[in-house]
Amino acid sequence: MLIRRAPEIKESEVTDERLYVDRRRFIRTAAGAGAGLGLASAFAPLLACEGDAGDRAGSASDQEEELTPFEDVTTYNNFYEFGTDKSDPARNAHTLRTRPWTVTVEGECSKPGTYDIEDILGRHPAEERIYRLRCVEAWSMVIPWMGFPLSDFIEDLQPTSNARFVEFRTLYDPEQMPGQRRAVLDWPYVEGLRMDEAMHPLTIFAVGLYGKVLPNQNGAPIRLVVPWKYGFKSIKSIVGIRFVREQPMTTWMTSAPREYGFYSNVNPEVDHPRWSQARERRIGEFRRRPTLMFNGYADQVAHLYAGMDLRKFF
Ligand code: MTE
Repeated sequence: MLIRRAPEIKESEVTDERLYVDRRRFIRTAAGAGAGLGLASAFAPLLACEGDAGDRAGSASDQEEELTPFEDVTTYNNFYEFGTDKSDPARNAHTLRTRPWTVTVEGECSKPGTYDIEDILGRHPAEERIYRLRCVEAWSMVIPWMGFPLSDFIEDLQPTSNARFVEFRTLYDPEQMPGQRRAVLDWPYVEGLRMDEAMHPLTIFAVGLYGKVLPNQNGAPIRLVVPWKYGFKSIKSIVGIRFVREQPMTTWMTSAPREYGFYSNVNPEVDHPRWSQARERRIGEFRRRPTLMFNGYADQVAHLYAGMDLRKFF
């Protein structure tokens, strides 16, 4: 199956061809889009990407859909640490320093510790995954992420049998993240997954998009992407991971418990208390399309929730 390119991407605008082991599968980048993102050597681990991403779980159906242009993916964002307007993160996130960067691992595992981002990238070559991102605000995008399975990272840490959930934490530093000076949310941003959700092959740590280093506004240097859940589960700029026995409280559950549950699976049948989830607007399009159960990944993830009342566990 062919990937249909976003309209404004031209063949002549191909970036560094070494990024693309199999150019039939990898996506060309928009004009000038990568300027200032520091591709070159800082991107070395991504250069090691293998070309079989299209055959991996979850990406096949996405390849029939048009990619959301780089420009939209990187200027229409939710990242409240840099402001609450969609255009704020692209404007403000330059204050985030993504090097040096460490991810601290705690809790129920045999290898807790502080891991340097360079070591993480060196150990886990990124590959491309084209995933839909469906925001709870009823808009969606199709994004060619660069990343690696979260399960590979977790396996190295050897969680104990007590680890039933994983909690993720974003950086807290109001100097770098000016949005944190206001109590819009309970900082730092925290999210969580059940262990089997975290280990599912669709779940990735993303470190790039469109073949480039992840822009700050998209959650540099490392973020979660869980394609069958509303976008807010996909926490950005992660500095901490904790393996825990009990279901963690997440930022959105704390701030609006009636509106946001722990599971947050994309479910057209469960409306947000203030609006419908039945349809969505693909960014760049005008007509609204029906929202798919589990964001279209039901064949791969529905079994995780067998026997659960998804209206109760929303
Ligand atoms: N992570 C942090 N730390 N802070 C945030 O405000 N917003 C979430 C999620 N991750 C958010 C976050 C929401 S609501 C969405 S829809 C996605 O990021 C948006 O990701 P994108 O801007 O890369 O499209």
